[in-house]
Amino acid sequence: MSQRTFSIIKPDAVRNGYTGAILAEIQKAGFRLVSIKKQSISVKQAEGFYAVHAARPFFKDLCAFMASGPLYLLVLEKDNAIADLCKLMGATNPANADEGAIRKKFAGSIQENAIHGSDGDETAAFEIGYWFAGYELV
Ligand code: CMP
Repeated sequence: MSQRTFSIIKPDAVRNGYTGAILAEIQKAGFRLVSIKKQSISVKQAEGFYAVHAARPFFKDLCAFMASGPLYLLVLEKDNAIADLCKLMGATNPANADEGAIRKKFAGSIQENAIHGSDGDETAAFEIGYWFAGYELV
């Protein structure tokens, strides 16, 4: 069944010039690009997005990193989109990502890991609604 997921091409990947290559991987894997926007976000916006991680020791650094430069916000659609994007991205820590995964190819560290993707139905609904208005998703 067709499903939507949310993704971010993170500031490290944008800085390193990997945006086009990552979008090509996503397209090759069969995702439809419902919406995309380039944005520079504030630390406060990052804190709201990652609120579920607020108690983690890496939270402050993570939010500073996400606000360190422009990123791309994406809404993607395909059958089984949430699980398929997780597989395409690979493990959070690129050192543990499978060969061929986006994070294996384009990420440098567990924090600066090139791409974010929603990890479940509820997360996807929250994350899409956090960054996109309904009129941007028609
Ligand atoms: P993401 O999939 O966007 O979800 C939460 C983010 O926190 C994760 O990718 C990483 O960027 C970051 N993260 C997760 N674990 C760690 C960690 N142990 N140290 C630093 N950053 C982390």
